[in-house]
Amino acid sequence: MKEQKEPFLNASDFGDDFTWGVSTAAYQIEGGHDADGKGRSIWDKFTDNPKMIHNGDQANVTCDFYNKYKEDILLMKSMNIDNYRFSISWTRILPYGVGTINAAGVDFYNKVIDFCLENEITPWVTLYHWDLPQILENKGGWTNREITTWFSEFTQVCADAFGDRVKHWMVLNEPMVFTGAGYFLGVHAPGKKGLKNFLPAAHHAVLCQAAGGRILRKLVPDAQIGTTFSCSQITPYRQNRRDQKTAIMVDALLNRLFIEPALGLGYPTKEAPVLKKLQPYIQPTDMENCIFDFDFIGIQNYTREKVKYSLLVPYIRAKIVKASKRNVETTLMDWEVYPPSIYNMIKKFGAYTQIKKIIITENGAAFEDTIEGEIISDKDRLNFLQRYLSEVLKAKQEGLNIHGYFVWTFTDNFEWAEGYHPRFGLVHIDFKTLKRTVKESGKWFSKFLSS
Ligand code: GAL
Repeated sequence: MKEQKEPFLNASDFGDDFTWGVSTAAYQIEGGHDADGKGRSIWDKFTDNPKMIHNGDQANVTCDFYNKYKEDILLMKSMNIDNYRFSISWTRILPYGVGTINAAGVDFYNKVIDFCLENEITPWVTLYHWDLPQILENKGGWTNREITTWFSEFTQVCADAFGDRVKHWMVLNEPMVFTGAGYFLGVHAPGKKGLKNFLPAAHHAVLCQAAGGRILRKLVPDAQIGTTFSCSQITPYRQNRRDQKTAIMVDALLNRLFIEPALGLGYPTKEAPVLKKLQPYIQPTDMENCIFDFDFIGIQNYTREKVKYSLLVPYIRAKIVKASKRNVETTLMDWEVYPPSIYNMIKKFGAYTQIKKIIITENGAAFEDTIEGEIISDKDRLNFLQRYLSEVLKAKQEGLNIHGYFVWTFTDNFEWAEGYHPRFGLVHIDFKTLKRTVKESGKWFSKFLSS
């Protein structure tokens, strides 16, 4: 990455009521894949096939947060981090997806929540960060409309168990990614492909998003309830009409498909006509049931995409031009480093008058770290965070509706199909010894938070 002048930033510039935190997800950090009665998830099964994961990596142990949660929460506290976003593993709580509750699983999250609160760290819980029970996938998973009943039960069990102490909830993590990568491209669990899987999965996710919100509202009336969306600025690759039209269509698919029905705007079928194919899955009262008045919307931004028209791609006639082919700064994920994207996304979501509050629930980057004894130097990550944060600050200073920022992520972890190769953490993990070492970026963030 090109050396950039460090922008001078203080957390206090964002105001006293701005929320700062770090985000994680159960499957990526917990390990304990079969501990104490936990059932199997689609990711436990997917990672059994070494061909699907970089280097054949598995997440059976990963960071071992299951056993090391106290060490990690204490480390967060020592770094001045006072909000912690994590997700609940569905099969730890309900090993069979529905029915029997696993007391040991509930107990684990009780201990995590209580330890956060003892250390004055506010827990922010995501209900679903991609680890669907395999037993439910065997019945079609997200493509089966019954998922709305299964997901409602899971939500209710979590709200009953944790709602007395957890007052910040997110229903889904990035529905576009888990339906797109998992049910359209087949590169994430459960590895299904094609529109016939994607379309029902997407519609059912939209229904669950709102159903989860309603259940939480009823059972935890004093909670702040949100849900999260992936989003990227979409730019036409060439300045011709066809690429421009393609960019509008891809924007509708990647940035609008899941939020607009929740806001009562329906699906963006005008700009993305392929979505008309959702119709057979939509039952008479569904579009009303998709609506929920969230207290906040979590947006997660990493990069921007450039897209071009392509006759070769069926249905959508669009292609993403990889960052590595565009001669731009990239991260280890081959994502373009493009800080204005986060500002433009805050602006875009801020333009929906129905959204009460926006929080960045994920932003961060994977780069190669340099290890020199106890010093883990990660200038590129530090630089990335500072440049993106400057854009968030610009949005805030312009009076846009932005109220918080969570770094993805606290420790290095299992990066889904990319295994352990790309490291996103503020804290380095030696995956052989599980030793945690705060990186230079982590030291900076901690100093920044105390400013
Ligand atoms: C998000 C996802 C996270 C993490 C991150 C970096 O899409 O929610 O789990 O993997 O991307 O790739």
